[in-house]
Amino acid sequence: MFNIAIDGPSGAGKSSAAKGAAKKLGFIYVDTGALYRAVGVAALQKNIATTDKPSVTDMLGEIEISLKFENGGQKVYLNGADVSKTIRLPEASMAASDVSAIPAVRAFLFDLQKNLAKNNNCLMDGRDIGTVVLPDAQLKIFLTASPEERANRRYKELIERGTPVEYNTLLEEIIQRDYNDSHRAIAPLKPASDAIIVDSSNMTLEDVIEKIVALTKETENGQG
Ligand code: DC
Repeated sequence: MFNIAIDGPSGAGKSSAAKGAAKKLGFIYVDTGALYRAVGVAALQKNIATTDKPSVTDMLGEIEISLKFENGGQKVYLNGADVSKTIRLPEASMAASDVSAIPAVRAFLFDLQKNLAKNNNCLMDGRDIGTVVLPDAQLKIFLTASPEERANRRYKELIERGTPVEYNTLLEEIIQRDYNDSHRAIAPLKPASDAIIVDSSNMTLEDVIEKIVALTKETENGQG
């Protein structure tokens, strides 16, 4: 199977780019953040504090998470129920961030991610895909953009949706989240030593998709 790992900070455009490239390549797109979000939602549903490591760890024995791929999209199931929409609520983002720092949660989701990559040509995005989950991926990309550009994109997105927001608040949040993600003890956000760094600050989404497709073709040709 051909596996592409895409890692990078929040807001660098990983999911849109990975989704677009997967469509062009005929690969499945696996959004691993959705798995951490589903664990976060499970804790919220059971009224378990997402920072309470022992309780979250115990809860893992009672939950089942699975993914389904339909029409190029991914659906997330928690104990058989479709939670694809619930995991996008703002409280799910914070919950996901909390539970993603718990080693047992990362171990719980590891096999699921590994098996998907073993059985499918896939483009998998996250924070530790090239470093931990798929260290043997044929192609590893670290997609990044300046904090200012990421704040700017998020600002435009929210204003278009009619959500009033301060640019400076968004920028501060992004800088704080980058710090948390890259300084946590387990699976911190960092490029794999053999990752190709793509800085999307001055690229359009279409540029990034084309870049991923071109890198994939080059790698496939190089492998003969
Ligand atoms: O990409 P996202 O915003 O959906 O991710 C949700 C949270 O999960 C985010 O705080 C980072 C974490 N995450 C992780 O630790 N490892 C991954 N492979 C994917 C996401």
